[in-house]
Amino acid sequence: MAHTELHDIAEALVADGKGILAADESSGTIKKRFDTIGLESTEETRRAYRDLLFTTPGAEEYISGVILYDETIHQNALDGTPFPKLLEAKGVIPGIKVDLGAKPLALADGETVTEGLDGLRDRLKAYHGLGARFAKWRATYTITDELPSQYCIWTNAHALARYAALCQEAGIVPIVEPEVLQDGTHSIERSYHVTSHVLAALYTELFDQRVDLAGTLLKPNMVLSGYEASNRAGVEEVADWTLKCFYKHVPAAVPGIVFLSGGQSDEDATAHLNAINARGPHPWQISFSYGRALQAPALKAWGGKPDQVEAGQRAYYHRAKMNSAARTGLWAPELEREAVAV
Ligand code: 13P
Repeated sequence: MAHTELHDIAEALVADGKGILAADESSGTIKKRFDTIGLESTEETRRAYRDLLFTTPGAEEYISGVILYDETIHQNALDGTPFPKLLEAKGVIPGIKVDLGAKPLALADGETVTEGLDGLRDRLKAYHGLGARFAKWRATYTITDELPSQYCIWTNAHALARYAALCQEAGIVPIVEPEVLQDGTHSIERSYHVTSHVLAALYTELFDQRVDLAGTLLKPNMVLSGYEASNRAGVEEVADWTLKCFYKHVPAAVPGIVFLSGGQSDEDATAHLNAINARGPHPWQISFSYGRALQAPALKAWGGKPDQVEAGQRAYYHRAKMNSAARTGLWAPELEREAVAV
């Protein structure tokens, strides 16, 4: 198949040493994040926070793309430059979250299906006009002894593939994000088993719906012990189980796997990514598309105070740099203690 623009975009998003900033928190989620620093969530505080992240000097050395929320893609920097244009000028690719959230799945107690397909073709066209060149759709699955059901797994896989096909038709690279939530007391083996089923269904649907895998990226969970489990697996075991799962279920045509952080501490998310890459080379680029693990220290350092913007930017730059190092397998805990100076 000829090399297309979609392939170029997907490859640029996982260029050497670079990863993606997920800054697409919905209004509900960003309110929760701001609550942790006692800041009211208003259109202006949300704008100011995204402005801090996007204008961080030098972050573009480590950040290839940023996922925006609908409100954010329409907002401007203080000088009036639209955020997508500001990012483009730094060589950072603007992306957009297009799903409308996980909603209760009918007749499936405790499970969800992600909505947002109605009208998606028109929304993608509009987002492309605003500069978006990649998109994200997140499905979620809960692990218990019985869940997720096959019904939940296949319904979400079908929707993810419909979204991906519509994106490619619009000239937008779809990031497919099937997130197996790692809350609970499950073992790492159980996480492996569930993640395997989810990925097997996803790649069946993507194939059936004619999606060109070389113009997609996968954004999965890492395979972890449940956050409330006793005897949680260590870093090397996480790398073992995660790679075992992806080698079995992710076709080599996929250019990149960009992990979500999913509630891991920022340093755990970096250490796991590093251990996975230290065992490379792999058939795909393995990178990050972190939300909390890139932003948490920045949010805390900023605290909503205009005179702390630079402190917030230094914290964000540092996490971006640490995760860039983890792409090569050359990150080490000692690097964390180096001066957090830009
Ligand atoms: P976290 O890294 O905080 O899990 O966020 C990534 C994301 O985009 C979730 O959809």
